[in-house]
Amino acid sequence: MKTNPEKFGVTPHQPSLWTRADALKVRADDPTTTQPLVSADFPVLNNDVFIWDTMPLRDLDGNVTSVDGWSVIFTLTADRHPNDPQYLDEDGNYDILRDWNDRHGRAKMYYWFSRTGKNWEFGGRVMAEGVSPTAREWAGTPILLNDRGEVDLYYTAVTPGATIVKVRGRVVTTEHGVSMVGFEKVKPLFEADGNMYQTEAQNAFWGFRDPWPFRDPKDGKLYMLFEGNVAGERGSHKVGEAEIGDVPPGYEDVGNSRFQTACVGIAVARDADGDDWEMLPPLLTAVGVNDQTERPHFVFQDGKYYLFTISHTFTYADGVTGPDGVYGFVADSLFGPYVPLNGSGLVLGNPSSQPFQTYSHYVMPNGLVTSFIDSVPTDETGTQIRVGGTEAPTVGMKIKGQQTFVVAEYDYGYIPPMLDVTLK
Ligand code: FRU
Repeated sequence: MKTNPEKFGVTPHQPSLWTRADALKVRADDPTTTQPLVSADFPVLNNDVFIWDTMPLRDLDGNVTSVDGWSVIFTLTADRHPNDPQYLDEDGNYDILRDWNDRHGRAKMYYWFSRTGKNWEFGGRVMAEGVSPTAREWAGTPILLNDRGEVDLYYTAVTPGATIVKVRGRVVTTEHGVSMVGFEKVKPLFEADGNMYQTEAQNAFWGFRDPWPFRDPKDGKLYMLFEGNVAGERGSHKVGEAEIGDVPPGYEDVGNSRFQTACVGIAVARDADGDDWEMLPPLLTAVGVNDQTERPHFVFQDGKYYLFTISHTFTYADGVTGPDGVYGFVADSLFGPYVPLNGSGLVLGNPSSQPFQTYSHYVMPNGLVTSFIDSVPTDETGTQIRVGGTEAPTVGMKIKGQQTFVVAEYDYGYIPPMLDVTLK
């Protein structure tokens, strides 16, 4: 690995491992780590668009922040096409599932605002068409920088490639609503390097995205988490003793799990503004366990670092499995070692009767967890489904030491502010 973290006053570290033995402890449907059933009669935020990944406006310490009493969220968003011949089936009916599954290719960043932290009002696109350099605007983080309303939106510019970028603009409020102005110049920050983080040339299914900048509560420096895969040609990774962990007899066979190589990446800023970044080795790797650790983020609590990341059933390796949902790890210092929460890592998974009901969970420092509705069965057999593309009910969770507990359920898309900033 070609990096010299000491240059920026960062102690070199070894990535922590999410092992196959840890993953064997995952128990779907444990009520303390399972999201309550989402009813199929959920309300839809907006019938013209699908929304999925939800990114609350926050400060660099992680606090969800309102401005002049207005809560603001950003969402990945795509138009719905109920009348487009391309999305009609043989009987002329709208094939919403196909439209929904195609959404990633036309994802754009939109914003919404609210006085109550729910019932979000449509704001619009953050960047005008043509501003973002690639076809897809994928997930990231909007950061409120100051009381002048300046916002740095970090996100992922995808297809071609996958580049972590940022664009600066401003949030403006009136008594009637919120608008986003500026957001005209996108600055590329970095891409996968092939030494620490896998590139597209090494693996056409690589992941490199979802920036989450933050100020370390202990050293005060500016860092960024992101999703990656461990560098190396696809199929070349070794799933050895360390990656397997302490498994019972009969569990040593790793099958084709060398193809699953997710990691949580970290970078440190070389400057105060976060315009110049140095990638560091991953904080956490899941080689032989899972291929995606998406949208990594932190909750800083009780002097500890709670690292959360979302993952899927379909991205697990041979011989291990778990529900779609959010997984977590905890450490006493930023660079670890991290241990899986609840023994396994599973923090909040979908119930097995509704395996795709929600995804893209985001754990806020107040213990509230927001996510979006993907699809909910409408009959006993689960063959009929209703597609969501809207906000899921928020879940309340307690984080205690190395454990988490589901303790409450709130309204759809309930994202209350933790701080209000009065703009000057
Ligand atoms: C999570 C995710 C993100 C990505 C986006 C693409 O739901 O896969 O990792 O940025 O969705 O739509």
